[in-house]
Amino acid sequence: MDFQQEYDLLKGQVEKALAKCFGQERHGGSFDGLLDAMEYSLMAGGKRLRPVLTLALCRACGGDVESALSVACAVEMLHTYSLIHDDLPCMDNDDLRRGKPTCHKVYGECSAVLAGDGLQAEAFGAILRCGLPVERRAACAQALADAAGVDGICGGQFMDMNGGETDISEKVLTEMQSRKTGSLLIAACRMGVMAAGGPKELEAAAVQYGACLGAAFQIRDDMLDEFATVEELGKPIGSDASNGKTTFLTLHGRETCAQMVDRLTKAAKEAVEKLPDPEFLQALADAMAVRNN
Ligand code: IPE
Ligand code: IPE
Ligand code: MG
Ligand code: MG
Ligand code: MG
Repeated sequence: MDFQQEYDLLKGQVEKALAKCFGQERHGGSFDGLLDAMEYSLMAGGKRLRPVLTLALCRACGGDVESALSVACAVEMLHTYSLIHDDLPCMDNDDLRRGKPTCHKVYGECSAVLAGDGLQAEAFGAILRCGLPVERRAACAQALADAAGVDGICGGQFMDMNGGETDISEKVLTEMQSRKTGSLLIAACRMGVMAAGGPKELEAAAVQYGACLGAAFQIRDDMLDEFATVEELGKPIGSDASNGKTTFLTLHGRETCAQMVDRLTKAAKEAVEKLPDPEFLQALADAMAVRNN
């Protein structure tokens, strides 16, 4: 198996499906500006890791990748909403995302807030309208809601923004990161299993894989915030330091963080070793551990 080739193949399917979401011709409607802002951020690039995970888990459970495309797009819409809001002046106040000016820099704060709101709602719509059996749609929508709400991104982002000057303990930091980042990666994996109608054992393995991958992913993100270049990363470096954020890097330093990423990556790979065809998911975990963007 050529990992990169496989990844690009799945990513290509996602890109094609995403392009159809808000890419329709505009006819001078009074909310065209909102659609433009949503499309701008959604189509700005990015690794498409979460939808690729959904498709890969669906395939690993014997499901048809095509049938999970709407669910995969929904995960990416929700993720993009979280990025738009994360960059706002009232949050991380960042000007660059996916190598382009952030949504609020181009369209203004109000449109950026609404573009995020719109993408979040459309994510649920895309799942509920898709062609999967109704109980699979409901399960996926529930999983996405769990990842988006208080137990997920919103709760984690609230903790992140309100950690402020206080000394955050390792335990609190771990919880915050698992909510703000781990929850959606877990949901992306679970939803792949759900879209395929896979059994509960495979869902449990997917959850374990997503949790380990998510923890490693955010530690690597924190490391890149300090050690990458803007060109590689496509977002500003030093954002965490300038916002006074406590991260695993500030708590432990670079070397320990690298060891933590290695340990979590190994655990992610073990979590899926009993799946019929774990090779791609394992190579993906390895690739994310050493990513530079
Ligand atoms: C960035 O996610 C936000 C985090 C959870 C760290 P990604 O690194 O997946 O961003 P894109 O989608 O590739 O732009
Ligand atoms: C935010 O983490 C994760 C989200 C839920 C968007 P960061 O604030 O570190 O993400 P980046 O570095 O801006 O992508
Ligand atoms: Mg943030
Ligand atoms: Mg940020
Ligand atoms: Mg970051």
